[in-house]
Amino acid sequence: MESSKRGQVAPFIVMDVMRAANEREAQGHKVIHMEVGQPGTPAPALVREAAVHALASDKLGYAEALGLPALRARIARHYEEAYGVDVSPSQVVVTSGSSGGFQLAFLAAFDAGARIALAMPAYPAYRNILKALDLEPVPIRTDAETGYQLTATALEEAASGGQLDGVLIASPANPTGAMIPPAELKAIGRVAQTRNLVLISDEIYHRLTYGTVDEATALAASPDAIVVNSFSKYYSMTGWRIGWMVVPEPMVRPIERLAQNLFISVPTLSQLAAIHAFDAADELDRNLDVYRANRALLLDGLPQAGFDRLAPSDGAFYIYADVSGLTDDSEALCQRLLMEADIAVTPGTDFDPEAGRTTLRFSFAGPTDHMREAVARLKALNLRKG
Ligand SMILES: Cc1ncc(COP(=O)(O)O)c(C=O)c1O
Repeated sequence: MESSKRGQVAPFIVMDVMRAANEREAQGHKVIHMEVGQPGTPAPALVREAAVHALASDKLGYAEALGLPALRARIARHYEEAYGVDVSPSQVVVTSGSSGGFQLAFLAAFDAGARIALAMPAYPAYRNILKALDLEPVPIRTDAETGYQLTATALEEAASGGQLDGVLIASPANPTGAMIPPAELKAIGRVAQTRNLVLISDEIYHRLTYGTVDEATALAASPDAIVVNSFSKYYSMTGWRIGWMVVPEPMVRPIERLAQNLFISVPTLSQLAAIHAFDAADELDRNLDVYRANRALLLDGLPQAGFDRLAPSDGAFYIYADVSGLTDDSEALCQRLLMEADIAVTPGTDFDPEAGRTTLRFSFAGPTDHMREAVARLKALNLRKG
């Protein structure tokens, strides 16, 4: 039986790299994992304690489709505490990771055929989810000159060049770590408003920033934005599959109806535990200190190993390297790094099928001694264009 056209989305190349790395590990090689975009740390102790307590004392039935009221209230309070932005608990939707949030947001905001602008390179699931929902991603190319971020000018150009219904931004971004400065974010919000575009802001890498660009939520300048966030990255809870959205009031009920039908509810155990994630800043900021040290080590060491054209890495835990001086086949280079140096890295083609042939993404979410060892191995490889 043939799958539908909607089912024919591209695979996640990083998952293929991970499988190859795991196979090599099974053969006894000491592989350094710089491919995966997930913290090596567990959920904060407070979260795990709350989960143990909930397992022992709660019946863990279905939760309300929009999320447990206590968690929605805690998330709303986070906006006041972290950004000084007033968010009502009624605007908060708890989701199965930001991945569940995107599905709900795209379905609630757009009809089939809608065109949504987004930066290229970008997190591949954006375009794959859009396509699976019969929506059309409209890539706006970014590069070193534009700091790898979408600008208000580029959005205005795209909007005047053809019908657009929405725009999806991410700051800090995956794969580049690039951030949108607050003034530019405001300008993008103005273009979205004048052009009547739904503005969706992926803020999953918030709090993972290194002081080079100020962090701002899209909600500060654009109260009608749909903000998607997650407990996966800063909060170190990938496998708990929990995230959230802040949505304009008129979108709440449509999203509730969709969530009821698609998911019923987000796992209650994860919700009860996640309430405590906001009180774990001490532990989580220690993780951030490790990322900061890793980032500094790589920004210093990678150029010495031949990777000297690097995207800004303002946030997240990624460094995106332009390797056009070394290869025009990033997948082959990744294969070589794995086979000759036991380092797993993601080829840029995952994020940008064309220009990604000359880029790589290094994730520095692992331990610092692995980063140090990776630099030493890369230097020893003596890379030349082949
Ligand atoms: C930019 C970005 N958005 C969203 C996600 C999805 O994360 P989750 O569904 O775990 O919240 C990821 C995961 O790597 C990501 O990099």
